[in-house]
Amino acid sequence: MKEILIAPSILSADFGSLADDVKLIDEAGADWIHLDVMDGHFVPNLTFGPPIIKSIRKISKKPFDAHLMVTNPDDLLEEYVAAGVDMITVHKEVTPHLDRTLTRIRELGCKAGVSVNPGTSLSGLEFLLEKLDLILVMSVNPGFGGQSFINSSLDKIKNVRELVSGNPINIQVDGGVNNTIAPEVIKAGANVLVAGSAIFSGADFKSYKQNIASLRCKL
Ligand code: DX5
Ligand code: ZN
Repeated sequence: MKEILIAPSILSADFGSLADDVKLIDEAGADWIHLDVMDGHFVPNLTFGPPIIKSIRKISKKPFDAHLMVTNPDDLLEEYVAAGVDMITVHKEVTPHLDRTLTRIRELGCKAGVSVNPGTSLSGLEFLLEKLDLILVMSVNPGFGGQSFINSSLDKIKNVRELVSGNPINIQVDGGVNNTIAPEVIKAGANVLVAGSAIFSGADFKSYKQNIASLRCKL
């Protein structure tokens, strides 16, 4: 059984005191810091980029997990590596040369991941298992925090688990994850849980710590 990792999404943090919130979730038990980069084109929202990531890099030593919801990830990889991210996840929908993109991410010294939207199939990923460190199943339509979990994601996570069996690939789920859904997605095969609103509710250390612990449920 892979270790269950919790990756708070800072999309739900208080951007007015982002450094404080990153420090708090680090100390509250976050395993990774999930960075939802949105360009306002691939998704109808615009969040942050390399300058912000660079500024919070010094706050936490936890792995920075960059989820690039952008139309042109191939053009941007070096900038995110320079900002200090440890992992880069690109979307299958915008990477026609995914083998080359994943190879490039690893050449730059980062872990390589691919994300699939709810309506996107897993087809073709079977040829890339040796180039992948992570597969991210989107359980909401990307762009915003606080949405409801799309139930068909559970079957998709099971399909990813079968697809990757035996390979050292993390299965990450992202969107609408809370302490009710967490046991379901873990049972289906996810081992990295992204959560924004379920963690950042309460806005203090005690609630962050409780919220993170409640997701790391034992089956
Ligand atoms: C959505 C993002 C998710 C989202 C998660 O596009 O990729 O990471 O911020 O937020 P919650 O957990 O509130 O759905
Ligand atoms: Zn995300």
